[in-house]
Amino acid sequence: MQNSQVDIYAEVHKGLRRELGIWLGRMGSLDAENSQEIAKANLAFTVLSTMLTTHANHEERWIHPLLIVCAPELVSDLEREHRQLERLFDAVVDAFDQLKNGNHDAPWAFQQILYRKFASFCGHYIVHMGREEDEAMPALQKAHSDQELLVLSAEIRGSTPPQEMGIFLTAMIPAMNLEERVRMAGGMKANAPKEAFEGFCALTSEVLNKDDWAAICKRVSI
Ligand SMILES: [Fe+2]
Repeated sequence: MQNSQVDIYAEVHKGLRRELGIWLGRMGSLDAENSQEIAKANLAFTVLSTMLTTHANHEERWIHPLLIVCAPELVSDLEREHRQLERLFDAVVDAFDQLKNGNHDAPWAFQQILYRKFASFCGHYIVHMGREEDEAMPALQKAHSDQELLVLSAEIRGSTPPQEMGIFLTAMIPAMNLEERVRMAGGMKANAPKEAFEGFCALTSEVLNKDDWAAICKRVSI
């Protein structure tokens, strides 16, 4: 099979890269002596944690069973990397919890340790996503038609509870370009139940600025 242009990683990975970048900035500038700010950031960090866990689960539950047929060694590699990334992220969460709980003598030095652990995690994670896009996606596109990949994509979305979908869309939509936003909004308008489309419009208009939202409305006739 051929002709496939559907890329099931592209948009969600854009969202994840954007979130990692935002968190790199936030982590580096945390006020280590402000316990309220640390606690607030620590709580917000659980959203990124949920996204990363859910995303890896989606890949292993939905994508890897297809990929194992056409690229078995790559699946072993990617899942080994998932376990390595989980260990690196657990170390970040542990350091963040220690900073929040005050289990240290020198908060500024400890914040620097946390920042570097997170920066190292981000580096590994970004390389990993690149492998999925550069190696896994072409293997899937070679073995499956656009239609089959669109069905897979719909299955992944259908398996995601609304609250988690909201978290992903909040990260993804600002990271996407106009063409991607229009394609997503057009697909929702044509295929999703009315309430789901209305929810999508409400969320999208909230996470984008006025002009970016107006550009979608114009192209999709919302
Ligand atoms: Fe992955």
